Amino acid sequence: MASSQQDPLPEPPPYVKYQGILFPGLATKESLEAMKTFEIRDDDVVIASYPKSGTMWTYHIVDEILEGKRDVSATRVMECHVPQQAPAHLQYRKTPSPRLMQTHLPVQLAAPGLSTPANKVKIVFVLRNPKDVCVSLYHFEQANPLLNTPESWEQYTKDFLDGKLQYGDYFDHVLGWWQMKDDPHFLFIKHEDMKKDFPSSVKTIASFLEKELTDEHLARVTTNCSLERMRKSLSDVAGKKNIVRKGIVGDWKNHFSGEESAKFDQKYRERMAGSGLEFEFE
Ligand code: A3P
Repeated sequence: MASSQQDPLPEPPPYVKYQGILFPGLATKESLEAMKTFEIRDDDVVIASYPKSGTMWTYHIVDEILEGKRDVSATRVMECHVPQQAPAHLQYRKTPSPRLMQTHLPVQLAAPGLSTPANKVKIVFVLRNPKDVCVSLYHFEQANPLLNTPESWEQYTKDFLDGKLQYGDYFDHVLGWWQMKDDPHFLFIKHEDMKKDFPSSVKTIASFLEKELTDEHLARVTTNCSLERMRKSLSDVAGKKNIVRKGIVGDWKNHFSGEESAKFDQKYRERMAGSGLEFEFE
């Protein structure tokens, strides 16, 4: 897999509508179709999430727990196809085991080996409260030349609640995967918990991966995956330099009006009711 450090940024591809859901142009129809037959290996580890939940952070953590052998700057989301490169799913087909991959797909469009895992595959699903996700996505779309610049913050929050943004409705997405909460192939981990007690979250992830961590190894993971370390390491990587932004819980308070916040709260209460899924917002 070639490093993208020197790649010029290609023209933005158009967004793609697939099975009623909007996807960024990098998730081409061909790649989305290919997921139906994409083979998951017994020793695969996959980071799954709604975008902006802390995917890259978790990817780094898992990579460090598994001894940090990958070129993390070159990692690709499974369903994406960066122009001038092979589609990620074809690159992953040639990647030696154990593979570490990422996906943002809703459960119904994910490779069958992830939506109905029958082997030893491990899926770390990262969750984050919807208000901070919305803020993070807004800034990401503004900064990323491959994506449309949001018209306005006001419109953006409406589109988020109407499920009109990329990867579709946040609540459908998260609750779709949350149905797997008791499946032992899955670990659900919350962004807010990682922020609150990073070492303990790293231990939880390591234990799920059946890896024992020495104190030194734990310290290495927390140091190498700190906000500032990641900001530095991704700062000049094309396509990834905008991933690390503020890295805080509760940035929504700097963006939401009282009315917008109330609308989010209402939708949150309606959709999460009875799911057992709750977030901290600050
Ligand atoms: P913000 O935009 O709110 O700062 P993803 O990888 O899914 O796109 O998630 C990106 C979000 O995770 C961004 O949130 C980013 O700052 C945050 N993030 C990335 N690395 C982090 C780290 N090491 N510590 C805390 N937050 C991190």
